[in-house]
Amino acid sequence: MTLFRQTTELLPERRDNTGSVIRSYERNEYGSRGRRGRRFSRAIRRRLSFWMFLLVLLFLIYMSVFHGKIEGETSPQRDIYQETSGLYSKEQPRSKQRKQHFPCDVGFAESVNELVEPKDYMNFTQFTLGYIEREDITYGHHKFEPRFGGHQTLEEREKSFYAKNQTIHCGFVKGPEGSPTTGFDLYEKDKEYMNTCHIVVSSCIFGSSDFLRRPTSRKISDYSKRNVCFVMFLDEQTMAKLSLDGHVPDDSGHFGLWRPVIVRNLPYTDMRRTGKVPKFLSHRLFPSARFSIWLDSKMRLQTDPMQILEYFLWRKGSEYAISNHYDRHCVWEEVLQNKRLNKYNHTAIDEQFVFYQSDGLTKFDPSDPDTPLPSYVPEGSFIVRAHSPMSNLFSCLWFNEVDRFTSRDQLSFAYTYLKLRRTNPDKPFFFNMFKDCERRALVKLFRHRTAMDPPPHL
Ligand SMILES: *[C@@H]1O[C@H](CO)[C@@H](O)[C@H](O)[C@H]1NC(C)=O
Ligand SMILES: *[C@@H]1O[C@H](CO)[C@@H](O)[C@H](O)[C@H]1NC(C)=O
Ligand SMILES: *[C@@H]1O[C@H](CO)[C@@H](O)[C@H](O)[C@H]1NC(C)=O
Repeated sequence: MTLFRQTTELLPERRDNTGSVIRSYERNEYGSRGRRGRRFSRAIRRRLSFWMFLLVLLFLIYMSVFHGKIEGETSPQRDIYQETSGLYSKEQPRSKQRKQHFPCDVGFAESVNELVEPKDYMNFTQFTLGYIEREDITYGHHKFEPRFGGHQTLEEREKSFYAKNQTIHCGFVKGPEGSPTTGFDLYEKDKEYMNTCHIVVSSCIFGSSDFLRRPTSRKISDYSKRNVCFVMFLDEQTMAKLSLDGHVPDDSGHFGLWRPVIVRNLPYTDMRRTGKVPKFLSHRLFPSARFSIWLDSKMRLQTDPMQILEYFLWRKGSEYAISNHYDRHCVWEEVLQNKRLNKYNHTAIDEQFVFYQSDGLTKFDPSDPDTPLPSYVPEGSFIVRAHSPMSNLFSCLWFNEVDRFTSRDQLSFAYTYLKLRRTNPDKPFFFNMFKDCERRALVKLFRHRTAMDPPPHL
């Protein structure tokens, strides 16, 4: 049994399969014991169960050696990822029925070939944003310590919400000349490549927290294969782990459609927070890009990126698209859930939440016809963006909240959006919050290999 436990820990995604193999073996073994007892002598029976055990053992060893290669290709039962409270939680009873969530039909354009960005599509609110590149401050007696997110004061934070020509904090802040790096360092050849991208699909795995899932190649058009950059950000540890998992890069260094980009000197010890850098700051990482699609590593892309841009942005005339949460709509519920599952240091959650309430965050009111969003809680694992001024500003503001407070971005989403709207009532932000079932239609969902969450006390 010890072996069984260890093996399933190595194979979180195959737990269902392996578990059911074990269970059905046990059923056969004990379920028919009476009949067999009459037929066979005890010795034969013992030998038989020994061989059966050996067979299962060999099967488990086989699975643990080859799981990297066959990961995710088989079991249809995992198509519907049961993203519920019970998933990361030790407290929830196992028997508790998990709600299932299904994809819905999405009316994508039939063919990618006729898709062109509509004329005047980028006619959104115009202004010019600059980003703080370097800080050189001395605080009283304290030694100044450079930070990736910089040292934004509350006053600067307040001003940063205005949609106008200005220079704001948006990550990638360096310290004084000669000071150590603040992190997220990339190789020059990768930077050169990223500067050429006009349409980007990106994702990340830091700290070996997940498996690599390649976009389903036959669902991606030749046009997109030629014109879209598929970039997977990885740290060196994860890159090393991938080859152990059996991923071998092709001649051009790609894993399928993914081009791996190595990130050195991760800016945060919290991997979840580090993951927010590529998630929110694609306009900084890909300065020439007009569009980007963010995909959490738990998802395998199964839809052409051009069809995604057409459906979520061009057709709707929107500059930012994100799905709502499948279950929760109110930040109050999200706070409770985060604490219930010990997702983060409770004191830090409270500090953030109290701050937001004192600055106007209200409960979500589904009965209000003028509610500015269909939900105050997003499912942020899939984001479609035009790199327009408002979209870039919102991304920077949201990132700054994650940098200042907790890394739980569902807690800061609605606050950031609502504050941006009320600071700029006459400057529209074309925002598309779509249904979670639409997100499920685009991708195949898996469980994370491991929960990325830090222990509760962090
Ligand atoms: C662009 O937007 C402005 C302001 O929203 C509007 O007045 C103008 O007609 C639009 N131009 C085009 C070509 O759509
Ligand atoms: C903002 O900057 C743009 C170009 O960077 C300039 O054309 C525009 O006039 C500026 N707007 C204001 C209000 O200063
Ligand atoms: C939790 O967060 C609070 C406030 O940010 C901090 O003061 C405290 O040290 C943290 N607790 C632990 C155990 O890290």
